[in-house]
Amino acid sequence: MKALRLAALGGPAQLRLDEVDLPRAASDEVVVKVRAAALNHRDVFITKGLYPGIELPRTLGSDGVGELEGRRVVIDPMIGWGDDPRYWNENGTILGMPRDGTFAEYVAVPRANVFDCPPHLSDDEAAAIPLAGLTAFRAVVTRGRVAAGETVLLTGIGGGVQTLALLFAKQAGARVIVTSSSDAKLERARALGADAGVNYRTDAQWYKTVRSLAGGHLDVAIDSAGGETLARALDLMRTGGRVIVYGGTQGEAQIRPFSIFWKHLDVLGTSMGSPGDFAAMLKRFRNGLRPVVDRVFALKDGVAAFERLDQAEQFGKVILRVSA
Ligand SMILES: NC(=O)c1ccc[n+]([C@@H]2O[C@H](COP(=O)([O-])OP(=O)(O)OC[C@H]3O[C@@H](n4cnc5c(N)ncnc54)[C@H](OP(=O)(O)O)[C@@H]3O)[C@@H](O)[C@H]2O)c1
Repeated sequence: MKALRLAALGGPAQLRLDEVDLPRAASDEVVVKVRAAALNHRDVFITKGLYPGIELPRTLGSDGVGELEGRRVVIDPMIGWGDDPRYWNENGTILGMPRDGTFAEYVAVPRANVFDCPPHLSDDEAAAIPLAGLTAFRAVVTRGRVAAGETVLLTGIGGGVQTLALLFAKQAGARVIVTSSSDAKLERARALGADAGVNYRTDAQWYKTVRSLAGGHLDVAIDSAGGETLARALDLMRTGGRVIVYGGTQGEAQIRPFSIFWKHLDVLGTSMGSPGDFAAMLKRFRNGLRPVVDRVFALKDGVAAFERLDQAEQFGKVILRVSA
């Protein structure tokens, strides 16, 4: 079968479309024929060596939709979460590293990770959901407990996870303020339901603009940018607010402890989600909700797809079409 493989570190240019053996399923596993897959920033980080436990060569890819025993299925990329819904078992792994992932014609996964695909979604839309949807759902619903009437800040709305967080926060009835490096992305976010937006690239004091848009009262912030963005988010929260952190794209943050203790903030970390989160997240798509698909590439054009994410050109999810 054909597989998009990473043989060496050094960025997306190191990816190759290889001919490899079909995967073999262990006793509790199945082999899914992949129709479409989606990229996550994790995949880009792995090509650059910015991820723990990298083993090469490896087929990347955490998101996939495909066929199994006559059903159209979507794959939960969180393998071995464990029994406690509050946090994962530290031996759990994510599909696509260390085990081979979905950027291939076939992928072996535990049977427990295979779910029926919401019927109204196209293959490309369904592929957009798993990892980003799971992360966003847990951030907004399970950890963030976002409620109707609350004001929520989503930093960097172009991100795959954040576009889904916007959908879930609007479903919850929140007022949502977003930031982005691009006016065009802010416009697209407004079309999806965002109530206000600020360009963090052209507005050096974006956090002051957010504060005034929020009327000085931000209940929740959801961030994966880290760095100064996270520090500002902590400063912006109301007393008793919640800050949900699921990534650190910019790296380390220099935070002011005063903002946390004086305002009694809840700073909540989250990663991926439990099988229960995944099932509940999929249900959100049963009533006509659709994820945002940015662009669809053929598997053979995988390098261009990775570069689009690396350059932050996307709004929503970048898809790899694997088979018809
Ligand atoms: N813990 C987990 O389980 C988990 C799961 C998924 C993702 N993540 C992490 O979360 C991050 C995002 O992942 P993704 O797949 O959604 O990435 P992505 O689709 O590549 O999106 C990244 C976005 O981050 C935004 N960004 C970059 N620099 C920023 C800054 N200085 N301030 C505000 N926003 C900034 C940009 O938004 P604009 O384009 O709008 O400027 C960019 O589009 C990554 O670090 C990833 O590793 C963690």
